[in-house]
Amino acid sequence: MISDKVKNILNEQINKEFYSAYLYLAMSAYFDDMGLYGFANWTKVQAKEEVDHGMIIFDYMIDRDTKVQLKQIDVPDMNFTSPLQVFEKILDHELYVTSSIESIANLSMDECDLATRNFINWYLKEQVEEEKNARDIITSLKLFGDEKASLYLLNDELAKREYHKHEYD
Ligand code: FEO
Repeated sequence: MISDKVKNILNEQINKEFYSAYLYLAMSAYFDDMGLYGFANWTKVQAKEEVDHGMIIFDYMIDRDTKVQLKQIDVPDMNFTSPLQVFEKILDHELYVTSSIESIANLSMDECDLATRNFINWYLKEQVEEEKNARDIITSLKLFGDEKASLYLLNDELAKREYHKHEYD
């Protein structure tokens, strides 16, 4: 049985994952406007993965016979100024999501909910990868600046990212 505290924090996390999808979609639209279609692809794929993250928690709550309470999704700030600024925002956001996931891990331990504690491990691992992805791209952008030729090469690289449905394993 999931406690009310754990139920509430999982419902909040569903909302944060869907907000993340909105945020990445906003970024994708910005890159598309700039003609940076590889960057637009990368962020759009990430938006789809964020929906998967939300759905995995949704399904977990249903499996545990726990009430899902959907909440309003905030509109992200769409004032982006450069590719580097976008990826710095991404890293900040993912650090924030990591701390949310850690709060779920800690609360589930406090509530002796070992199933949720075990469930959330998948997200802890996922966050390590998400932070690394953002840091790697920030490093490239800082190394090569906004020179058109290097931006074009990175754009080509990011165009290769493909969406694969994220499954809980
Ligand atoms: Fe679902 Fe990017 O965290």
